Amino acid sequence: MNGIVLISGNGSNLQSIIDHSAAIDLDIKAVISNHSSAYGLKRAEYANILTHTLNHKQFSSVEEFDQELSNIINQYNPEIIILAGFMRILSAKFTNQYSDKMLNIHPSLLPKFQGLNTHKRVLEAKESQHGVSIHFVTEQLDGGPIIAQVSVDVFDTDTTESLAKRVLLEEHKLFHKVIHWFTQGRLKLEKNHATLDGKVL
Ligand code: GAR
Repeated sequence: MNGIVLISGNGSNLQSIIDHSAAIDLDIKAVISNHSSAYGLKRAEYANILTHTLNHKQFSSVEEFDQELSNIINQYNPEIIILAGFMRILSAKFTNQYSDKMLNIHPSLLPKFQGLNTHKRVLEAKESQHGVSIHFVTEQLDGGPIIAQVSVDVFDTDTTESLAKRVLLEEHKLFHKVIHWFTQGRLKLEKNHATLDGKVL
């Protein structure tokens, strides 16, 4: 299945997806970043994947940025769009175009801790559990139908870094599994619910 991956930074999730791409029948046609310095672009280049950089600062509105982003995406006619650490808020017009084929990974147990700095906020809130969620992207920020979640324990000794590291390990294990469900045609968005083999998740 043809796919596009959107990133903003290090791209460790992208790397895990690249490493599993043959096994999960994913052909990554291009990686798009909104930062030219994103290390994930290098990871893509090392894997011989085409890259694009689209600097959001060069656009006067979210809508204009999103229009150009979809122009690039649509060249490839992707069947799946994967947000792997893509740190831009997307307009409703954009998300509605791709809502049944766009997946996002988020470092929290949604609906808890939407938005940024999740690890720090989890520690401040003295939560005993944290984790990762993968969801279909809708116009609601971090609010689309949840597909899969994995919890991790939060320890008294945790720092933002140690917690982030533990969550990231789970992200890398979970994302390619979920993408594989999609490439196999088992995972769908139906009536605003994520379904796996026809059953609501
Ligand atoms: C990951 O932890 C991902 O869940 C998070 O950004 C990190 C990217 O790491 N995404 C979000 O916070 C989206 N709201 P990576 O570049 O090493 O894959």
